[in-house]
Amino acid sequence: MKGVVGRKAGTAPGYVYSSAMKGAGAAGLVWVETNLAEYLKNPKKKVPANKMGFPGLKNPDDIKNVIAYLKSVSG
Ligand code: HEM
Repeated sequence: MKGVVGRKAGTAPGYVYSSAMKGAGAAGLVWVETNLAEYLKNPKKKVPANKMGFPGLKNPDDIKNVIAYLKSVSG
């Protein structure tokens, strides 16, 4: 599988994730659009203690556009 959309969290081959992100995948978090939207709005709320240094996107249109882009490069 290419890209992130539809992939289980914390499972891209070769990347060293935090145990938080690996645990989210192990607990069944899959990056479908609804989960991506929640994560991009507030990454630390959706996956507490993950190591992504980004506060999130507050503008719903930005979230929509970023997900549309991620879909265009996944598949
Ligand atoms: C709109 C911008 C961004 C999007 C759409 C995005 C998306 C994501 C997603 C979906 C994951 C989970 C990946 C997976 O499960 O394989 C992730 C993880 C991560 N991102 Fe971002 N991200 C963004 C911005 C950033 C920025 C600005 C940084 C660094 C300054 C960053 C650093 C990371 C890191 C280090 C992880 C791994 C987290 C962990 O293992 O706990 N991201 N990102």
